[in-house]
Amino acid sequence: MQPEPDGLARLVIAIDGPAGSGKSSTSRGVAQRLGLRYLDTGAMYRAMTWHLLTRSVSLDDVDAVAARAAEAKIVSGTDASVPTITLGGVDVSVEIRSDATTAAVSQVSAVPRVRQLLKEMQRSIIGPGGIVVEGRDIGTVVAPDAGLKIYLVADPAARAERRAAELTDQHERDVALVEAALLRRDVLDSTRAASPLAAASDAVVLDTTYLTLGEVIGAIVELARQQADR
Ligand code: DC
Repeated sequence: MQPEPDGLARLVIAIDGPAGSGKSSTSRGVAQRLGLRYLDTGAMYRAMTWHLLTRSVSLDDVDAVAARAAEAKIVSGTDASVPTITLGGVDVSVEIRSDATTAAVSQVSAVPRVRQLLKEMQRSIIGPGGIVVEGRDIGTVVAPDAGLKIYLVADPAARAERRAAELTDQHERDVALVEAALLRRDVLDSTRAASPLAAASDAVVLDTTYLTLGEVIGAIVELARQQADR
């Protein structure tokens, strides 16, 4: 890998957008191309959700969720080639992708105390920078001073196709059902009171519907290099 200029070592790249917009593959690809760290904040919300589900906390009881959330010992790795996530020292990378977690994560991530706890963890990981951070509120709330903010969008049908393709090894997925679930999550994530999914006013909006993953990564790498050279 080519040594990158100093500016990149401090750069924070925020990549936000709805489910299936290509955030994870794009963010990991950009981090790998630029030799930067990588943080998947969605995985942290999922790990928190798994923590609450395994303790049988009623998700409708916001006070109980807030109290039990503080116990969660979530550790996110930042190596883009091997993303890791542990809960109390146990690898939960499979559990956080389960249907039960996916169905509950929007409700958990709407709780302000959960967001506050995870925001603090995320800011401490971001630290001095040199990192690509993906999520829903990175450019708006977690890292409002990020040097580069990207907001990825794509047509719902394209997003559902991508998600369904990712899920095929579990069992056959109906794209229409995946699209309905994804749209339901979009509504919950973008209408919640606490840091809803939204593009920062200074974000570059990239529509990935007709772009390949390589094209999206290439465009962001180019923007990051321009920003680092400033
Ligand atoms: O990116 P993902 O689908 O793995 O995220 C799972 C959920 O976590 C998503 O439905 C909303 C929530 N989330 C959030 O509220 N804020 C973030 N920064 C990242 C994810």
